[in-house]
Amino acid sequence: MQQTYFMIKPEIVAAGDQKVGEILAIVNRAGFRITGLAMRTLDRATVEDFYGEHRGKGFYDDLCDYISGGAVVTVRLERENAVAALRELIGATNPADAAVGTIRDLYGASLQNNAVHASANPDDAARELGIIFG
Ligand code: CMP
Repeated sequence: MQQTYFMIKPEIVAAGDQKVGEILAIVNRAGFRITGLAMRTLDRATVEDFYGEHRGKGFYDDLCDYISGGAVVTVRLERENAVAALRELIGATNPADAAVGTIRDLYGASLQNNAVHASANPDDAARELGIIFG
């Protein structure tokens, strides 16, 4: 079994409970087990650390403002091949490029407001789960 980190972003949480529930149901139906779940507002220092690989990029400050600017749903997931399977389920970073039926295709609004985050590889999953779940 492999673990990965999944996060539902502020614009989805702010839109109300229905979208959060729908997205969690999609993840459950794809065979993931939820082993950690919390709705939290992450402080800016935590978000800066979390997205540290993007420090210096043009979108970094806006990204940190956006993710620390409202509540997110933080989720620890478990499944065989969890990291790759979740990345496939959420689709490309830019919703405009996301395959039909993926979470970002269904719920993403823009490159920044792309509904959800999922760890890119097993090392990132371990690092991100450590930051968020300790
Ligand atoms: P995520 O998968 O959480 O990883 C980094 C986030 O930065 C990405 O989703 C988007 O929300 C945001 N972002 C904004 N602009 C860009 C960009 N040009 N390239 C990649 N990610 C971006």
